Amino acid sequence: MVKNLWRKTVNIGGTLIAGAADQPLKGAFTPPGDKSMSHRAVMLASLANGITEIEGFLPGEDNIATAKMFEAMGVTIEWLSDDQTKLRIHGVGLYGLQEPSQVLDAGNSGTCARLMTGVLAGQNFHTVLVGDASLHKRPMRRVAEPVRRMGAHVDGAKEGELLPLAIRGGNLKAMAFQSEVASAQVKSCVMFAALYAEGDTTVREPKPTRDHTERMFPLFGQPVSIDNSGLITVQPSGTLTAPAGVLHIPADPSSATFFAVATAIIPGSEVLLQQVGLNPRRDGWRRILTAMGGDISLLQEKKIGDEPVSDIFIRGGGVHGINVDPNDVPDAIDEFPVLFVAAALAEGSFILSQAEELRVKESDRITTMVKALQACGASIEEKPDGVIIQGQKRLKGGVTVDAHGDHRIAMAMAVAAQCADAPITIINAAAIATSFPSFVATAQQLGMNVAWKDEA
Ligand code: S3P
Repeated sequence: MVKNLWRKTVNIGGTLIAGAADQPLKGAFTPPGDKSMSHRAVMLASLANGITEIEGFLPGEDNIATAKMFEAMGVTIEWLSDDQTKLRIHGVGLYGLQEPSQVLDAGNSGTCARLMTGVLAGQNFHTVLVGDASLHKRPMRRVAEPVRRMGAHVDGAKEGELLPLAIRGGNLKAMAFQSEVASAQVKSCVMFAALYAEGDTTVREPKPTRDHTERMFPLFGQPVSIDNSGLITVQPSGTLTAPAGVLHIPADPSSATFFAVATAIIPGSEVLLQQVGLNPRRDGWRRILTAMGGDISLLQEKKIGDEPVSDIFIRGGGVHGINVDPNDVPDAIDEFPVLFVAAALAEGSFILSQAEELRVKESDRITTMVKALQACGASIEEKPDGVIIQGQKRLKGGVTVDAHGDHRIAMAMAVAAQCADAPITIINAAAIATSFPSFVATAQQLGMNVAWKDEA
């Protein structure tokens, strides 16, 4: 019987072996391009009139999935460098996409699936959005419902709760949207749909989330206004225009954090992370790690496009536990797996609450990290909306842990192994390629002890 043709399991497999670092970490490096911004850049460039050149693009599987979707709808993308960090996109205009002949596959990427739901809601044709086995378990009603209210026809598995989604868009009307979850993906989905709506769409979020969409729309000639209360208004201008110069994407703070934590917990380490995005809505990791006593300084702050960036210098000297301010949660939402590692090796206790969104990421990041760290000998207690961790000097290690196809769990546990008495085997780690294909090479350069197991 042929079934589930759309369900790939690419994120399963791949084993990392990681052990204690032989020496302090040293070096300087520029993390790969920002994942969130790379998605948005491809989307806006494809929907603009004119040609956009992008530099600093993240060639991770997630972003390639977004690029492939636009290719499937008639957009020409030229790759200008072998490492796929430079590209030229021949935009077709807001109304120039063509109905694809195949399903559109978001792979492992929630951002791709959810933001594309907004784009596809604006198209006067039929599409089917699918993903891998992990993405097929993640909630989609949060985006299906608002675009339905704007007039798109969206059906999906489990009454629209899950992928695959079938979308027939067009003839959208504006709406005043009050989001129930603090989610930049939900906000951005509605903002993309708003480009196609008749009238002005407003979005209000329960807590501020990453604002790359708000910052990037104006670079393509689409104004966004935000009042003092945080209410976002998109008054659709009817056309997007390719920016005059090259669109540069800063280095991803989420990728930088793995090395920031590794440096902080290995005494004597000194690492310079270059050109890292410092957007306040992404900078929660730095506020949290600094509050934990991390020795972190900013050098050379500047702007790339409309985004603040800086070189960040970290010195290893140990950290202590804190009670995380719930207001910082959305600003560090992707960094908690590795911040849990810092907490497990900190002095005193670390308490995180109001972070239930962690349960609907690429894996349930509360349960997955609790199981993995407990197996390594850490003292970590699972709460419905967070964790309580009692720090200790070293981890025991000597175990196999399962990353469950979640890139950030795999990388976080590789960092944990640097302070373990015996090596840790991390299975189902291949998904690292979704966001940070060069992670292992970079980690080795800086002195971390981690390698792919040869499974040939
Ligand atoms: C993202 C938003 C966040 C984040 C994800 C990227 C984005 O998800 O976890 O990795 O680019 O908008 P939520 O919006 O679901 O919190």
